[in-house]
Amino acid sequence: MKNRKLIQNLIFIFIAFAITGYIFLFSPKKTAEDENLYKWISSEKDYLYYQNSPEILPTTEETERAHDNFMRIRFNKKAADVLNQDGHLPKGVSFPDSSIIIKEIYSEKTGAVEILAAMVKLKGAPNSNKDWLWAEYSPTGEVEYSVSKNGKACVSCHKSTYDNVRIFELRK
Ligand code: HEC
Repeated sequence: MKNRKLIQNLIFIFIAFAITGYIFLFSPKKTAEDENLYKWISSEKDYLYYQNSPEILPTTEETERAHDNFMRIRFNKKAADVLNQDGHLPKGVSFPDSSIIIKEIYSEKTGAVEILAAMVKLKGAPNSNKDWLWAEYSPTGEVEYSVSKNGKACVSCHKSTYDNVRIFELRK
């Protein structure tokens, strides 16, 4: 009887440790870089929606559900300044440093924004990949994809002659 109780206790302790360890290892980690980047992208005021339209659009098939069902893309002033009258990046032009592009991700067209996916142009920055920083946040700044991961999960898809920004080739 006594032994059974002891074994039960040991099993309980083991499970408790396993759960804590799992949470510790797999919860998204917030680094100082993530926090600073989130502060930066939320401090910019003059964002311009893609082609000046605040409409929430379906994501294209090309995302293979990497970005859920609906989206709205916005550009900070620095990025918007190089776009032409159609809201497109002219051929051969790249975005200047400190350009920010945010993709607001929605699971429903009429719902609230769920994820902010960000591309921030910073040539040669330690975490940059193809000259961009890549990160994803919840609307309140929780880290969904850390900038410290160097965009490894993003760049395989983000190949395009428009400075690796996909929207210009997909929606004219
Ligand atoms: C499976 C492919 C795929 C992956 C992986 C992916 N994206 Fe995208 N992303 C797209 C496509 C396609 C678009 C264009 C808009 C659309 O069709 O929804 C896009 C659009 C964007 C945009 C708006 C600017 C643009 O390129 O049009 C941002 C910002 C963005 N993604 C960030 C990220 C980040 C950050 C990651 C990694 C954490 C990531 N994406 C991973 C396919 C992908």
